[in-house]
Amino acid sequence: MKITVLTLFPEMFSPVLNESIIKRAQENSLIEFSFVNFRDFSTNKHKTVDDTPYGGGAGMVLSVEPIYHALKSIEGNENALKILLTPQGKTFKQATAKELALKEHIIMICGHYEGFDERVRELVDIELSIGDYVLTGGEIAALTIIDSVTRLIPGVLGSPESYEHDSFYTDSLDYPQYTKPREFMGMKVPDVLLSGNHQEIAKWREEMKLKKTTERRPDLLKK
Ligand code: ADE
Repeated sequence: MKITVLTLFPEMFSPVLNESIIKRAQENSLIEFSFVNFRDFSTNKHKTVDDTPYGGGAGMVLSVEPIYHALKSIEGNENALKILLTPQGKTFKQATAKELALKEHIIMICGHYEGFDERVRELVDIELSIGDYVLTGGEIAALTIIDSVTRLIPGVLGSPESYEHDSFYTDSLDYPQYTKPREFMGMKVPDVLLSGNHQEIAKWREEMKLKKTTERRPDLLKK
């Protein structure tokens, strides 16, 4: 899979993408990242990419032209899935991550300042938000999406079992996990997990998933 990010701050990405599982996924050629700074596509001599809003008001608005030209400069842009990161977008969910993990090429556009010229929305396929709060820019949203999508690409984690019981993979939270020691400050590992009875363990895990989801996220069960 290829992910191209349009951003004014490409340096924000390398500390996250060059560690741990995502780093290894790149080394194993399972994912490839590239960055386009749309400031390089500014059409004026001061290299600005934003301007004051028509009709007045506070703040600056990102112009459509540099984003359009930056997009057109990307090889294969016609066939790539183009995503705009914005708090106005559809909320990103695990189901969205599963869909995105099947794509060959994704382009993400990160905004800054007060917002985009509305015509930027005409250049993309979907708009995504990572939640009902406003970030200073789309970069952290793009990183969040990249992280959750990368781990679902076949071969990135050891086996599908590594994510199939994740919270949200099937509209429920994960079951509780324990490791050594058997007892810590009076808190014990449930006996069933030490029983060696795989059927009983699987049954207990299903029950715990349901209990946890009912208590913490009943909205997931209503689905
Ligand atoms: N840009 C600013 N806030 C955002 C959010 N919540 N999700 C995606 N992009 C954003």
